[in-house]
Amino acid sequence: MTTENGKVLITSALPYANGPLHFGHIAGAYLPGDCYARFQRLMKSDVLYVCGSDEYGVAITMSAEAAGRTPKEHVDIFHKVNKGFFEQLNISFDHYSRTTCEDHEAPVYDFFKDLLENGHIEENTKDHLYSEDDQCFLADRYVVGTCPQCGYEGARGDECQKCGTSYEATDLRNPRSKQTNAPLILKPTKHWFLLLDKFKDQLNEWLDQKNWKPNVTNFVRSYIKGLRPRAITRDSSWGLPVPLPNAEGKVLYVWFDAPIGYISSSIEWAKKQGDDELWKRYWCDPSTKLVNFIGKDNIPFHAAIFPAMVMGQNQPYKLVDELPANEFYNLEGRQFSKSEGWYIDLEDFFTKYSTDQIRYTIAANAPETQDSEFTWKDFQSRCNAELLGKYGNLVNRILVFAHKQCGGVVPQKGELEPVDKEFIQKMSTLTDEIAQSYETFRLRKASHLVMELAQAGNVYFNEKHPWKDAKDPATVQRMETTIACCLECLKLLALTSLPIIPTTAEKLWGYLGMSEGLLHKGWNEIISMEFPVDQALSKPEILFRKIEDAEINEERKHLEQLSEKAQADKPVKIHPLKNEVEYEDFQKLDLRVGKVIASEKVPKSKKLLKLTVDLGLEKRTILSGIGHYYEPDALVGRRVVVVANLKPATIMGIQSEGMLLTAEGKNRIDILDAEEVPIGTVVR
Ligand code: MF3
Ligand code: ZN
Repeated sequence: MTTENGKVLITSALPYANGPLHFGHIAGAYLPGDCYARFQRLMKSDVLYVCGSDEYGVAITMSAEAAGRTPKEHVDIFHKVNKGFFEQLNISFDHYSRTTCEDHEAPVYDFFKDLLENGHIEENTKDHLYSEDDQCFLADRYVVGTCPQCGYEGARGDECQKCGTSYEATDLRNPRSKQTNAPLILKPTKHWFLLLDKFKDQLNEWLDQKNWKPNVTNFVRSYIKGLRPRAITRDSSWGLPVPLPNAEGKVLYVWFDAPIGYISSSIEWAKKQGDDELWKRYWCDPSTKLVNFIGKDNIPFHAAIFPAMVMGQNQPYKLVDELPANEFYNLEGRQFSKSEGWYIDLEDFFTKYSTDQIRYTIAANAPETQDSEFTWKDFQSRCNAELLGKYGNLVNRILVFAHKQCGGVVPQKGELEPVDKEFIQKMSTLTDEIAQSYETFRLRKASHLVMELAQAGNVYFNEKHPWKDAKDPATVQRMETTIACCLECLKLLALTSLPIIPTTAEKLWGYLGMSEGLLHKGWNEIISMEFPVDQALSKPEILFRKIEDAEINEERKHLEQLSEKAQADKPVKIHPLKNEVEYEDFQKLDLRVGKVIASEKVPKSKKLLKLTVDLGLEKRTILSGIGHYYEPDALVGRRVVVVANLKPATIMGIQSEGMLLTAEGKNRIDILDAEEVPIGTVVR
C-alpha cells in the first residue's frame, strides 16, 4: 500500500485568458491534475495545487483586437469566465492566479536578472519585419507574404499553410501586414536571447533520472539536440517590460514569464494564508514532488526550456519531477472549435447534466496515451450503464435493503463464509490497484477499477441473495453479514471514487452515516476502519438520472446545426487574384446552357457523378466531382452551365466531354444553374 506524507506541489498549465475553455482543455491538464491533487490529499500528503490565467503574448493581443477590446479588457473577461468554469467543474485549485497580478513581476525579473548576470542571456541585433506605416515591428502571426518554397501568396509568418514549410518571417517574399496589408521592411532590432544550447548536457543528465512516458521522453531528447539560442523578448506594448534601461518598447516573451506564473501563484496563495514565506516550503524543498499537468503541445517548455531557466538562475527552486503530458481530446471526431461551430454550449450543458457525469466520462476515456474524444453516445452509456447501472444501482439497492431489513443501521457481521472472504479480498485488491493507478497518473484505469469494484458488489449481492435469507429466522444472521460486507463495499466505493466524482462520493459517505468528509480520515484510516454496529444510515436519493436516447439525439442534432450555421456565417476565404487575361483569351471558352437528362454515381468513386447533359446540338457525357454534395437523382432536369469546348479527358475509364461550372467553398459546392434559360444558349 502506498503511503505518502510528503509535500506534493501540483500545477496545471496556465490557460490563455483569450477565450472560453472547453472539455478538450479539461481532459488534458485540469481534470487529471485535480484527481491527482484530490488523491494526494486523501493520502494525507501536504498538497499545494496552483494554476492561473496566462495573460500576455500575441495570442492575447490578436484575439483582443479581433474582439475590439484592449488586451487588458480581454483578459479580465476571460480570466473570470475560465475561473468560473473551473469552479463549475469542481477543480480544487488551492489558488487560481493570473500573470497580470502584482506578485508576478518580481520573480520574473529575478529570473531575468540572474540569467543575465550568469551569462545565460545575450543581447543581439537582428533584422525583423517592420511596418513604416504603423511604426512598429510585427510578430510572426501578424505577417503574411509569399512562401519562399512554393510561392503561395497568402503564406503565414511562421509556416506556409499550402506546402507546410516552416521558416522565419524574414524569409517571406513580399511581406505585408496581415491586418492592414501595409508592406513591411527589414529593420534591425535588438533582442535578448536565452542561450539554451549551453544547457544541453545538464538537461540530458537530469533527464536520465526520469522515468516519464516514452512519448514525452523521446520527444524531449530530440528537442534538446536541436536547442539554439532563443529570443525571450518581443517588440510589443503588451507584456512585462524588459527590466533594463536600454529596452524601450521591448517586453518579455510570454513563454518566459508564464511558467514563472506557477511560482507567483504560490506566492499569492501564501500571502492569502497570512504567511508570505509559506510558498517556499514547497518550491525550495528538494524533497517536494513537483508535478506539472500539461497538454502535449506544452512539452518543450516544461521539459526543456523552463527547466533550463531554473537551472540557470540562483534560487533553489524545484525542477519538475513528474510530467504527465496528455494527448488531445476531441469532440465527435473533430477538434473542439467555437469558430467551426463544433463545441458544446456549457451553460446549456450544466442545466441538464451534472459535473460528476462529465468528470467521470472524461476520466474514463482520458487521452493518456493517444488522442480520445467525447461523443454523446459514450457520455450516455457512461452515465447510464456505469454511473447509474453499476454505481448508483449498488448504492441504492443496499441502502434500501438495509432500511427495510436491518432497521436502517449497520448490522453486526457474523461468521464469514468463503464467499464473503473472497469478496473482501477482492475489494482490498481493487482498492490497492486503484491507489496505484492514481499514483501513476492512470486515471482511465482508476475509473475502470472503481466501476469494477461497484460491479463486484452487485455480483456479490446477487450471489448471496439476502432477500431470501431475510425471510427465515435461521438465516437472518447470514443476511446481516452480507449487508455488512456490502456496506464495506460502499465505504470503499466512496473512498476510491472521490478523486473523480467528489460530489457523489461525499454524498454517499453521508448516506453511510458519516458526518465529516472523506478527507478527514483519509485513505489509510478509512480502509482499516469499520463502521460501528448500529450506526444509522440515511435513505439514499437518486445519485444519477437516466439520460434518454431522445436527449442524445437532440444533442447531436444540435451540434450539427451549430456547425452548419457556423459554416454558412463564415466569410468566404478571399483568394488572391490570378494574373490578368486578354479578352481574346476569355473568348476562347465556349460556354453553353445544357440540361441534365441522366445522372448516376461512378462505381468505386466517392465523389464522381456521371451526367448526361443535353446541349441542344448534342448529348454529352460529363463527369463531375460533386457527389459529396448532390444526390444523383436531384440533378436530373436541372439546367447547368457547361464548358463545351474543353478537351475530353478520361477519368476512371470514362471519357468526360466537358465541365460543369460550380462555385466551390469550404465544405460545399454549388452548381451554377440557369433554370429559365433555353437549352443550347451560349453564355458570354
Ligand atoms: N498558456 C499556455 C497554453 O495554453 C500554457 C502555459 S503553461 C505555463 O498553451 F507553464 F506557461 F504556465
Ligand atoms: Zn509554401
